Amino acid sequence: MKSLDDLKKIRDAAQRKVTMRGKNEGTRILVGMATCGISAGARPVMNKLVEDIAEKDIPNVTVTPVGCIGECAIEPIVEVLEGEKRTTYCRVDVDVAERIINEHIIGGKVVQDNLIGKYRL
Ligand code: FES
Repeated sequence: MKSLDDLKKIRDAAQRKVTMRGKNEGTRILVGMATCGISAGARPVMNKLVEDIAEKDIPNVTVTPVGCIGECAIEPIVEVLEGEKRTTYCRVDVDVAERIINEHIIGGKVVQDNLIGKYRL
């Protein structure tokens, strides 16, 4: 069993990590994982993003599950945040997730086919 001091050290280390993550200049990928997103297939999309980033050893990119993004009808939604720039993809499946990694994250070119602006809301 851990002592109170051990637990405080663990908590402090976790808080430092969260703070560092908040100041991170890298790329953040958010995946909508509300019930609608999950039922539309967000879980395999999230897994694909995480696996590809690990397999390709892409530095400075994090994938984070988030809750409701507000557009159930066009889930799964994936947002790529790069500094002030936000790119929102919708109706993402595993193939599109792979394209996001290869074309957008690695290649620097937005995947036009699934941009949220292409769909009427
Ligand atoms: S519940 Fe579906 S996007 Fe909010």
